[in-house]
Amino acid sequence: MDIHDLLNYTQQNLASWDEAAPLHAGINQHLLQEVSRADYSNLDPHLTDLMDEVDITGLSCVQICCNNGIDLISLKKKGAGNCLGIDGSPAFIKQAQELAELAGLKEISFVRHNIYELPAGYQGQFDVALITVGVLNWMPDLTRFMKVCASLLKPGGRLIMEEIHPILSMYVEGEPSHIGASYFDKTPYEDENGLDYFNATQYKAKKNFWFNHSLSEILMSALNAGLQLQHIEELAENIGNYCADLEQAENNPPLGFTAVWNKRD
Ligand SMILES: C[S@@+](CC[C@H](N)C(=O)[O-])C[C@H]1O[C@@H](n2cnc3c(N)ncnc32)[C@H](O)[C@@H]1O
Repeated sequence: MDIHDLLNYTQQNLASWDEAAPLHAGINQHLLQEVSRADYSNLDPHLTDLMDEVDITGLSCVQICCNNGIDLISLKKKGAGNCLGIDGSPAFIKQAQELAELAGLKEISFVRHNIYELPAGYQGQFDVALITVGVLNWMPDLTRFMKVCASLLKPGGRLIMEEIHPILSMYVEGEPSHIGASYFDKTPYEDENGLDYFNATQYKAKKNFWFNHSLSEILMSALNAGLQLQHIEELAENIGNYCADLEQAENNPPLGFTAVWNKRD
């Protein structure tokens, strides 16, 4: 994709995310108490198992598109070494910094960058890069995105991902038996209905754009970025509250997947 279009899409998306931050902050009253617990974790059992298998104790970790930082805070609580969260929304970065401080954590920081405009200095610094639910669809150019992710890793470092399964792009939310779109549809999905996925507040939002990437595109973009697949699992459970009712459907599709890649030396 042309760099001008790429930055245009992502800047609009980031403005829309930043606008949603005060709505998400509403749940912080609850989080404020939760994050200070020594055993706090926002990771689901799939990610918890992967982190235990990798054994992140003392490892430097970066979370790409970290939102309010609660997944990275969870890694730090599990014993990770130096942690860095990157997100393009200044308001979410501020929330993440506040939550990390309340959690009483050191050696964790958060920086605001459009992931497609990451300055030099972060490359080759991390043992683990984490991507959790709801990131890939904001990326207009997956090839370029995966190259950025791989560039953050030391040789031998691992990219760990838990994401919504791309097959869900075919379904219509709230209508579990309705196939509404082609799996291969590449038209950017334009939305103004708001990004408050915590409280489902409806408001006329700043325009944002959603991009579909098939499973083979995800796997090939990682391969082309020098990442070797070590694990992949398609998940029958609802992991992102997107098309959650499909979990109970008789002919249920996968709702999510986890994957781990290793950066080739
Ligand atoms: C659905 S949230 C991810 C939530 C994540 N699973 C978590 O709970 O930590 C998506 C995040 O991606 C960020 N984002 C989207 N496009 C981005 C870009 N081009 N560069 C940096 N951050 C981006 C948004 O600001 C938002 O915080």
